[in-house]
Amino acid sequence: MPDLLLGQTLSFSGDPFVEGPGAARHVERGAVLVENGLITAVGEADVLRRAHPEARLHDYGRALISPGFVDAHAHYPQTAIIASWGKRLIDWLDSYTFPEESRFGDAAYARAVADTCLDVMLANGTTTVCSFCTVHPESVDAFFSSARARGMRVLGGKTCMDRNAPDTLRDSAQAAYDDSKALLRRWHGQDRLSYVITPRFAPTSTPDQLAALGALWAEYPECPMQTHLSEQPEEIAWVKALFPRARDYLDVYEAFGLLRPNGLYGHAIHLTDRERARLHEVGAALIHCPTSNTFIGSGLFDLAGLAAQGQRVGLATDIGGGSDFSMLRTMAAAYEIGQLRGTALHPAQLWWLATAGSAQALGLGDRIGTLAPGYEADLAIVDLASTPAIAQRAARGDSLWETLFPTIMMGDDRAIRATWVNGRPTPGP
Ligand code: GUN
Ligand code: ZN
Repeated sequence: MPDLLLGQTLSFSGDPFVEGPGAARHVERGAVLVENGLITAVGEADVLRRAHPEARLHDYGRALISPGFVDAHAHYPQTAIIASWGKRLIDWLDSYTFPEESRFGDAAYARAVADTCLDVMLANGTTTVCSFCTVHPESVDAFFSSARARGMRVLGGKTCMDRNAPDTLRDSAQAAYDDSKALLRRWHGQDRLSYVITPRFAPTSTPDQLAALGALWAEYPECPMQTHLSEQPEEIAWVKALFPRARDYLDVYEAFGLLRPNGLYGHAIHLTDRERARLHEVGAALIHCPTSNTFIGSGLFDLAGLAAQGQRVGLATDIGGGSDFSMLRTMAAAYEIGQLRGTALHPAQLWWLATAGSAQALGLGDRIGTLAPGYEADLAIVDLASTPAIAQRAARGDSLWETLFPTIMMGDDRAIRATWVNGRPTPGP
């Protein structure tokens, strides 16, 4: 039996960075028809109710029916060390991240953390995440098994490191290639799961390991590749010292076959003009991680400038360098960084980034992130009056954007009334 969800609907038929807020499709008393995991119709509530009297009704009143949020870069194994105090990137990795990641050879521990992470994400309306795992194949099996049990579309991969990391977290060039290939063959394309080739970042891989992963990507160019790029000045100086012949940080990846259109480059804050031009030429995706960039003190990503150049950009929490699982809090941080750079991002741009924009960055723009027939039915139902403070401000709004913006700036998991995954409401808390 089909399900018919009633509420305000919001989605995008184009990119608001190009077309402006007019790219939004908003229906005040709208409806979404869902059947067998897919959206089969989107329109006016009255019309769809009359056309589908057989459908099971879910009346969400004035709440907003949105595509589920898409978190384009996270580290699920860092769930338990989120909000760790007082370090910059390299110190933060050594003090908090690496000791925690060392535990993920234990399959039961990995599965418990994956379950916690994905449940918290679902409670925040996030239906897709692209995650780094750890060096241990068990951590990948745990992540994909957990997502499969929830029916989620996720992406992930084994994080490869063969230097500048503790023994417990190091593989080798050959093991990185062999393990990644075996995991890719086991998981890529199973159910709603995609394997992502995952060198952590240039400083923790030898040239041999980067070359091995570049070769693997050439064998499986349909898989995305994720890594980090130009997050902090100290990191960039380290890359320069380790790879003195490279023109810049991006050139290290390119030299080893790790620059292609379906490459996902996290952070990308301190880019040179050459790097920007080359990323644009290739059409690779840059992933903005705003709560992480403020929390670890990394810098102010040039979202407006990069979008104006036509770069592909996604939005992400970067758990646990990021300080919140909520894509609403992430949108708020992106807005604030935009303000610090002198550009007020429009709510349409923020919402698009958290849904269709991130989906496109991940190469999934034809399956998720949009309310339209044929798309997968991953939905976030968002209460636009979830706290007294938000409710009183939203009540003053006389347009969609004025009633939505208080939830972007002040909302969190309390604003998520329900999350639908693959055509089914997930069990509530
Ligand atoms: N650079 C390399 N590894 C990491 C990580 O785990 N988090 C962040 N924020 N940056 C990184
Ligand atoms: Zn990261």
